[in-house]
Amino acid sequence: MTQESHSQSDYGAKLDFSQTMSYGDYLHLDSVLSAQHPLSPDHNEMLFIIIHHVSELWLKLILHELTATRECVKQDTLQSAFKMTARATRILEQMISAWSVLTTLTPSEYSRIRPSLGNASGFQSYQYRLLEFVLGNKNAVMVKPHQHDPQVSARLESELRAPSLYDEALRLLARRGFPLAPAVLERDWAKSYTPHASVEQAWLEVYQNTERHWDLYELAEELLDLEDLFRQWRFRHVSTVERVIGYKPGTGGTAGVPYLRNQVNVVLFPELWKVRTAL
Ligand code: HEM
Repeated sequence: MTQESHSQSDYGAKLDFSQTMSYGDYLHLDSVLSAQHPLSPDHNEMLFIIIHHVSELWLKLILHELTATRECVKQDTLQSAFKMTARATRILEQMISAWSVLTTLTPSEYSRIRPSLGNASGFQSYQYRLLEFVLGNKNAVMVKPHQHDPQVSARLESELRAPSLYDEALRLLARRGFPLAPAVLERDWAKSYTPHASVEQAWLEVYQNTERHWDLYELAEELLDLEDLFRQWRFRHVSTVERVIGYKPGTGGTAGVPYLRNQVNVVLFPELWKVRTAL
């Protein structure tokens, strides 16, 4: 075949989508790709918008995976849970690498965008707040920025009051016969979890008898992977923020870097870290 006829070949591909669903139709690309509306004339605002859109899409998938994981833990179908937790962890890896795209944004470039942001901040990401709640970092105040949106508020309120993924893991330990304190199993789910010696003792036994408790051991390691990666995301966020805005306050009204540094210290699954010292 000559080069010319190659370039004219349609490779057998379907070329007419006047009557049938195309790639763009299936993915609703018209909505997704028309959602980027820079408010400043600055070239770099497109990066700022797209990195947030991409992160929100990944958050949507993480929530999808982790709420299903929690359901599997509840039903004691751990093999499916492991598959989904592993996927959520891989997504976090993507979200962590994404920070290196954003670090190409310099302080002078950001300062040209900042006036257009007003009070908009990731602090108001309801999907991020849902994820924190699913992971057990509960704080009723975080629902307040969403009061103006009854649907989102209701979703957050309901997640605030539901057992977290870790709470369900602990209930599973109890169903498997580990003697956990009632304070751990029946508590106000809207409050963050307080570590308990009976839980550390249970995980210790799991780690000391891995053959006997293989699936719980695997669950513990999957949860730890998740928290490890989430910590790394928080750290890369605060580091990027310090690099771009220094110690200026955030658009969302907090002190900025000092607030975010505090969040890096949040511990989601405390006994899974503590048990390491005892092993
Ligand atoms: C140059 C880029 C960025 C800057 C300067 C920045 C700055 C900040 C600051 C200062 C806060 C604290 C709240 C406030 O007062 O505003 C914050 C919170 C937050 N940002 Fe960013 N951010 C950036 C990029 C991102 C990206 C790409 C995401 C991805 C979704 C993101 C998600 C969040 C979230 C979820 C919070 C709430 C964290 C928490 O409450 O623990 N940020 N950001």
